[in-house]
Amino acid sequence: MPNVQNVPDAGNPGAAARLSDWMRNRSWAIAMTVAIVITVGGLVILETARQRIAAEYETALEARDVTVQLSTLASQLSRLSAQQSDFLLTKQDAAAHEFCATAVRIRQSEQQLNRFYRGGKADSAELASFTQILGLIEARIGAGASALQRAAPHPLDLSACGSASEASPADASLVDSTLSLLRDNEERRAQHALAASRGDQRISTLCAAGLSALNIVLFILLFRNLGIQIDRQARVQRQLITQQEGLDQLVNERTRQLEALGWHLQAVSENEKTQLARELHDELGAILTASKMDVAWANRKLKDSEPDISEKLKRALANLDQGIALKRRIIEDMRPTVLANFGLVTALRTLADEAAQRNNWTLELHLPADDIKLDEQTEIALFRVAQESLTNAAKYARASKVSIALQVGDGQVALHIADNGVGIMPADLKRTHTHGLLGMRQRVAAHGGRFDIRRGVPNGTDIHVEMPSVSTATPSIDLPPATPSRTSV
Ligand SMILES: Nc1ncnc2c1ncn2[C@@H]1O[C@H](COP(=O)(O)OP(=O)(O)O)[C@@H](O)[C@H]1O
Ligand SMILES: [Mg+2]
Repeated sequence: MPNVQNVPDAGNPGAAARLSDWMRNRSWAIAMTVAIVITVGGLVILETARQRIAAEYETALEARDVTVQLSTLASQLSRLSAQQSDFLLTKQDAAAHEFCATAVRIRQSEQQLNRFYRGGKADSAELASFTQILGLIEARIGAGASALQRAAPHPLDLSACGSASEASPADASLVDSTLSLLRDNEERRAQHALAASRGDQRISTLCAAGLSALNIVLFILLFRNLGIQIDRQARVQRQLITQQEGLDQLVNERTRQLEALGWHLQAVSENEKTQLARELHDELGAILTASKMDVAWANRKLKDSEPDISEKLKRALANLDQGIALKRRIIEDMRPTVLANFGLVTALRTLADEAAQRNNWTLELHLPADDIKLDEQTEIALFRVAQESLTNAAKYARASKVSIALQVGDGQVALHIADNGVGIMPADLKRTHTHGLLGMRQRVAAHGGRFDIRRGVPNGTDIHVEMPSVSTATPSIDLPPATPSRTSV
């Protein structure tokens, strides 16, 4: 028995899905192609029907024309017989001439009919009947003319009638029946052509109605599809807007968190500095002071008896003094006592004076006359900004003049620091790996303020800070308040 295995038709569902995808993607192209083919086909059918209707009308008209001419011929033949009888009764020449005039008109009618029957439009039987009629009519006219001549009291000029013949007069009923046969044929031909044209008209009406219906269906589908697409686009747009709003919210949230974190870190840093400064001041200061007092005491005791040891102790005293000075500088750097003790205006003035002295700057200060009391964190932030700005001016600006302005009012405080140095480069404004400018910017932003640095006009660097007098930052953790040291060694 052959080992029948169920081969999983894994490819087919995928292929079917791909095919249906392909169909869906190209459904409009397919629908349009089908519509175009149908429309072109319909137009071809319409045009063919139109041409056929035109030809059939022509045929019908022609048949009617021929029918009329055949009727005319029949009536001319009756008139010919009547005129012959008239002459035979009255013997008036005028009646004979009228006979001839009618014979001429009959021949003209024959010529017109001849063009039709020999033009290839009539079938062979009709042509044979027509040819037969022509012969019969000729015989009829010839026999009539010779009867007139015979009955005339004097010879008549009947040359207009053609040659008179002695042939026996044609059977009038045969001529009439053949003529009416031909007339019936033409009537039928006209009827047939009209019926065919009515059929073609129906076809073209149906075709036009079909095309119109197709177009209406296509338009409905097109507008429905457009509506669906517009709806879908609007939905996608709304989703995008919602997503964008969500992202904006997230970015704002993260920015707020980062600002709060920055504020918190700075507060922690300032608090730690304060703590450390206090420890240094209280503990190390006490140790150094006690050591200095002890060494001074020992020095006084040994000054006369042990000059060598006294010399060493003097050096130790000098070292202790240096240590105490270093400790004071470190404390001052970490926690500017002047800021804590005298407020922002005095601290800025002292800072600026010292920096100007060190760097030989001409100083221009626009500070409030009386010291002001701002929120402690705001004061520290402004002081640190001033400190970093002056450090940068000393390091990079090669300036000869520095100006500092502080303005307070309306819940806002503004600090403006400018130098007349080389000016900051645009590239420096975008740097991310230097922390001075970044730190200032973050410090100010964390307190809800605005920091702006730019090249001065015509040279130098301008720094402008605007902050609320009371910090708007809210720390996420409760921090112990920074307690300034009010004593110094
Ligand atoms: N007042 C100034 N004049 C000229 N250039 C400055 C001034 N302040 C800052 N800069 C330029 O901006 C850069 C960034 O300053 P900063 O962020 O404080 O970094 P850092 O002081 O650590 O180099 C500096 O390296 C310096 O080139
Ligand atoms: Mg710097």
